[in-house]
Amino acid sequence: MNMIRLTIDNKDVITSKGITILEAAKNAGILIPTLCYHERLNPIGSCRLCVVEVDGQSEPVTACTTPIEDGMSVTTQSDRLFQMRQEALKLILVNHPLDCPVCDKAGACKLQDLTFEFDIKSIDCQAPNRNYISAYQTTFIKHWPERCILCLRCVSACKEIQNIGALDIENTEDGPQLSFNRDKCVSCGECVQVCPVGGMLEKKSTFRWRAW
Ligand code: FES
Repeated sequence: MNMIRLTIDNKDVITSKGITILEAAKNAGILIPTLCYHERLNPIGSCRLCVVEVDGQSEPVTACTTPIEDGMSVTTQSDRLFQMRQEALKLILVNHPLDCPVCDKAGACKLQDLTFEFDIKSIDCQAPNRNYISAYQTTFIKHWPERCILCLRCVSACKEIQNIGALDIENTEDGPQLSFNRDKCVSCGECVQVCPVGGMLEKKSTFRWRAW
């Protein structure tokens, strides 16, 4: 028997083994918010937007990294989950500049969409100014370090899709930051494709056109 029976938001779901709660929910037409998840990448589990409650577990789990089990009962929407997702977004926004009017990604930015969805109108504090490793750019791509939300999609895409591994996370005095191996980077643009915000963009579009 390769099938599993579970309930998601009180809906009976029968699905194949070996998939995550997020995938089972999606197959059943139930959408769970995500930010670091990307269908072409292995689950990363860095943003915690996809938290769900599982009966019998005291703390919510991330739907993108948790495999389904037979008899599981999952809740994807509750006041507690809304608050947790809102808090996770606020933590990201503490470090993310509100430069949407001049960001090429505005209008096609997942963080912008989620900020609207979770009704965030202000945040209580702003992070102190940080020093960034100098912004990386080639003829075709440009990294905007202050906009990076460290979701790690680009790091995974460079490794898993392009098999190059030119991107990594470096611990600096100002916290973790994205670092580039300039000798390995071939400007393929895979990082631009998967970046959910305006952290990696086409260089030629800067201040000239929107990503969409
Ligand atoms: Fe699951 Fe980011 S989408 S942790």
